[in-house]
Amino acid sequence: MGVAITLRGVSRAHGSTKALDEVSLEFAAGGATALMGHSGAGKSTLLQVIGGMDLPDSGEIRIDGHALPRRGLDAHRRRVGFVFQRFHLLPALSALDNVLAPLLPYRVGFDRKARARELLKAVGLAERERALPSELSGGQQQRVAIARALIGRPPLLLADEPTGNLDSATGQEIVDLLLGLREQYGMTMLIATHNPELAATCDRLVRLADGRVTGDDLVSPAPDVLDRIGRLG
Ligand SMILES: Nc1ncnc2c1ncn2[C@@H]1O[C@H](COP(=O)(O)OP(=O)(O)OP(=O)(O)O)[C@@H](O)[C@H]1O
Ligand SMILES: [Mg+2]
Repeated sequence: MGVAITLRGVSRAHGSTKALDEVSLEFAAGGATALMGHSGAGKSTLLQVIGGMDLPDSGEIRIDGHALPRRGLDAHRRRVGFVFQRFHLLPALSALDNVLAPLLPYRVGFDRKARARELLKAVGLAERERALPSELSGGQQQRVAIARALIGRPPLLLADEPTGNLDSATGQEIVDLLLGLREQYGMTMLIATHNPELAATCDRLVRLADGRVTGDDLVSPAPDVLDRIGRLG
């Protein structure tokens, strides 16, 4: 299951720049939210403070009701999967080994290769587990990066412009894949994107400008509603 996230008055400044300025937001467990806003609006900063990779200067972040501590965030980070614009695959490792890489420092109580293969299958790359990143297209490399982000079964997936390096058709495939994986695994998803079409396929759209929330809307109707609309039409 996904986690619920609450931010109350979260601020983060870099010098005189307010990257986040008193941001208060709630994200329901299992929801998929798109974050939009101009370059410098604070999208990446928001993902980083929620993911425990950066600390807010003030305000509070709660995950399932528990305030994130200011120290000892490792346990939190282990429950977060990250997907980036640049896929950041390790070039000398096969697709399978890239998916396994996050588990290297840990003892785990499950069959790690079986899980990595299950995830490569879920992202449509079952046949390419031995391929090196250089032998894969951009969209395929991002699929490997998504499988890698999910290897620890994170209840929270943060994606920072996951389609930024892809053409629009491939980008839409990646977002559809993410939404399908959310159905399957139930994690809460936050996706920073500049693409309004991709954002419209999430179930909520939050807009940021200059570190502040300027819009917050539910977007596409649920699939069952679409079904009904289709039947009526
Ligand atoms: N490490 C840093 N040092 C100084 N300023 C920073 C740092 N990180 C972010 N900023 C500033 O904070 C503001 C918010 O940056 P952020 O990266 O969150 O924006 P963004 O919405 O992700 O933009 P983009 O769409 O370009 O990725 C910007 O003005 C940026 O220059
Ligand atoms: Mg950014």
